[in-house]
Amino acid sequence: MLVDEFPPELVTRFEELVARRAERIPLQHLTGRAHFAGLELAVGPGVFVPRPETELLVEWGLSQVRAGIAVDLCSGSGAIACAVARTIPVVYAVERDPDALPWLRRNTQNTSVTVVPGDATDPSTLADLDGTVDLLLTNPPYVPTTEALPPEVIDHDPAVALFGGEDGLSVIRPLLVRAAGLLRTGGSFGMEHDDQHGESVPALMAASGDWEAVTAHRDLAGRPRFVTAVRR
Ligand SMILES: C[S@@+](CC[C@H](N)C(=O)[O-])C[C@H]1O[C@@H](n2cnc3c(N)ncnc32)[C@H](O)[C@@H]1O
Repeated sequence: MLVDEFPPELVTRFEELVARRAERIPLQHLTGRAHFAGLELAVGPGVFVPRPETELLVEWGLSQVRAGIAVDLCSGSGAIACAVARTIPVVYAVERDPDALPWLRRNTQNTSVTVVPGDATDPSTLADLDGTVDLLLTNPPYVPTTEALPPEVIDHDPAVALFGGEDGLSVIRPLLVRAAGLLRTGGSFGMEHDDQHGESVPALMAASGDWEAVTAHRDLAGRPRFVTAVRR
């Protein structure tokens, strides 16, 4: 619709939002919404804002598996779980942060996703599913603590969602072990990682003996971004 002028209260509201954005508050926190793989998710303080590069991980996962059991470890807002649940109805979403869980519950409330509060690296989490999972996707915290981040990220994404210790691998290492425990032989695995991990993460996986077809993938900017594999 074309209009000649905006109502003054709308202009004031718009100017307020622009001023807050100039303070480096993420746009998604101002609107309360994030768009991911065609979904609109509720986000705000306490939860990681899903990023477009993670859509590539989902795309890869659904190109491999379209039925059975899927698991999203480190689920945050539930972006991966909700996107996968449009195709695979049995999806479990594991998240440990009590501040993120209300967002995850809200985003999954009209879906078939089962929310599982807990530590994704703990062998007791989803232990009933050991050896049965067909697709496991994860976007864990992976930023090295030494890395400088823009204010939108460091001041607004939760630290537990971002940092993976000094080398960025402190969650990834035990998560790889847990993923291998959950997946059935031949099950598909995809994990996002830092752009510095394009060689180290595939090497870790190759060394474990748990995986075959370990493949490194780049994001839309051409940076190393995620790894995929098949459970041996
Ligand atoms: C990078 S965010 C990703 C969120 C979401 N999967 C996405 O792609 O937008 C990582 C998430 O993992 C959660 N997390 C960190 N360590 C965890 C652990 N050991 N077990 C379960 N969740 C964890 C954080 O709270 C955060 O929500």
